[in-house]
Amino acid sequence: MNLKKLPKIELHRHLELSVRHSTIKALAPKIGLKADTDEEFAKNFLITEPMKDLGSVLNKFLDTQKLFYTEDIIEQITYEICEDAHNEGIKILELRYAPTFLVMGHDKINFEQAHLAIVRGMKKAEKDFNMAVGLLCIIQRISPLDVAESVTDFAIDHKDTFIGLDLADNEEGFDSKPFSSFFMRAKKAGLGITVHAGESDVPNAPRYILEAIEHLGATRIGHGVQCYRDESVIKQLIDKKIPLELCPTSNWLTGAIKDKDNHPFKTLMDKGVLTTISSDDPGIFNIDLTHEYELLQNKYGLTEKDFEHCNKIAFDHSFISLDKKTAAWS
Ligand code: ADE
Ligand code: ZN
Repeated sequence: MNLKKLPKIELHRHLELSVRHSTIKALAPKIGLKADTDEEFAKNFLITEPMKDLGSVLNKFLDTQKLFYTEDIIEQITYEICEDAHNEGIKILELRYAPTFLVMGHDKINFEQAHLAIVRGMKKAEKDFNMAVGLLCIIQRISPLDVAESVTDFAIDHKDTFIGLDLADNEEGFDSKPFSSFFMRAKKAGLGITVHAGESDVPNAPRYILEAIEHLGATRIGHGVQCYRDESVIKQLIDKKIPLELCPTSNWLTGAIKDKDNHPFKTLMDKGVLTTISSDDPGIFNIDLTHEYELLQNKYGLTEKDFEHCNKIAFDHSFISLDKKTAAWS
């Protein structure tokens, strides 16, 4: 089976962490970072070995963020991300970004300008590559509530170009419940809700998944991998038909799963959890989605039928409109 060519749907990819390497290398000198040699590039921009924890990984993202310093660059990067996804066999792509993170330190760019640049890049790529792309807006957990509220307003005001709302960053120490009213409001306005929950290997991780469903109205969970530790959470995910956006390599690099050879993907799939396959931050993790398919095939024995099953789940639960995703998938 040619995994690169296999048609794929990806629900969980961060725009800020998916920048094409040649573009990083071209722009790095302009932000005062060295990427002349492979060693320099890897040191400044890549994570290829597990870090201490998710927090350390999130900190490392700050350098790539500096690249987004003009509207034209934001548009170019978005277009290239879609083109790269197309070359990985991805026909339907949900791309997410955090407006607060993207514009941080870029004083001349506001949310609106950044978003319009992203939409331009995305729309051009949809046309050029005959693919369906949907944008998710992220609230950073570390945001004060007034900022989170303004991001919610921004997402709702742009619900013609956002398909959903997400909550990301480190869970530990950042309770999701205070964000409940924002997510309920977004849901009422018609946005899809997915939440990063149960990602890191921390004591309450399985409970965070249930909180995302109960208090934030999530109908999908970003990662959720720690559910494997609690059969009652697994049962609820199955009963409520809530899919997981699983990202195996990301889990290994953030320390969420300690043993590369022991990811619970297949165990969860075999138990009946709705599993989907994503790359999370492919630019910085030096992977693409095909790499995740290869990993699942080679280490866990997933077959073409399993991949079809996962993509069917992703299709059914994608927040992109049925017409648009059907046109791109058929
Ligand atoms: N933002 C980007 N990648 C993330 C991850 N793996 N977990 C939480 N927030 C993120
Ligand atoms: Zn993520």
